[in-house]
Amino acid sequence: MSVTLKNGYFEPMVYKAPAVSETIKTEVVCPNDTNPMGILQGGKLVQWMDIAAAVCAQTHAERICVTAKINEVQFKHPAHVGDIVTIRAKITRAFKSSMEILVQAQARKVLIGKNNLISEAFFTFVAIDENKNPCMVAPVNPVTQAEKKIYKEALQRKEHV
Ligand SMILES: CC(C)(COP(=O)(O)OP(=O)(O)OC[C@H]1O[C@@H](n2cnc3c(N)ncnc32)[C@H](O)[C@@H]1OP(=O)(O)O)[C@@H](O)C(=O)NCCC(=O)NCCS
Repeated sequence: MSVTLKNGYFEPMVYKAPAVSETIKTEVVCPNDTNPMGILQGGKLVQWMDIAAAVCAQTHAERICVTAKINEVQFKHPAHVGDIVTIRAKITRAFKSSMEILVQAQARKVLIGKNNLISEAFFTFVAIDENKNPCMVAPVNPVTQAEKKIYKEALQRKEHV
């Protein structure tokens, strides 16, 4: 695994708070995104979530990152044509080259104006160097109580797969 040689120089490992790379992506559900019942397709939603998670991972790592695993995907409620879908991706923990990102998607009906959690999942991304080999990423510094809790749990998730 390559360490932190970047642009010809070694860089110090700087702890980063999850807020630094938190990513919000917003979409409007269009007819092409839905099944014949007008319900947002699961695959389309996961694609949007994957993009938000990739932006989050790459912002944290300052490297190109690839999806290694998508875990515990849940579709809790349907979203329909016209709904506004807001996807929030936040890093829970970084290991050596891999990072766990929690992604949550909410849908809002314009006329009702209330957000509804429709899906959540844990994505694992791996940072790669110029030769496409995994490379070290900055560690995460959890700040809030919720961030500290999910940081601890991330190790258990990594060890139990
Ligand atoms: C992800 C990938 C870079 C890992 O490469 P590799 O040589 O197998 O890496 P290693 O075995 O040295 O593991 C490197 C890290 O990835 C993690 N990892 C590898 N495969 C994983 C998987 N399936 N699930 C979770 N983590 C995984 C390892 O735990 C390790 O983490 P750490 O460095 O934080 O301890 C490689 O498998 C790959 O390129 N996969 C295809 C990715 C892809 O095309 N994604 C879709 C498009 S973005």
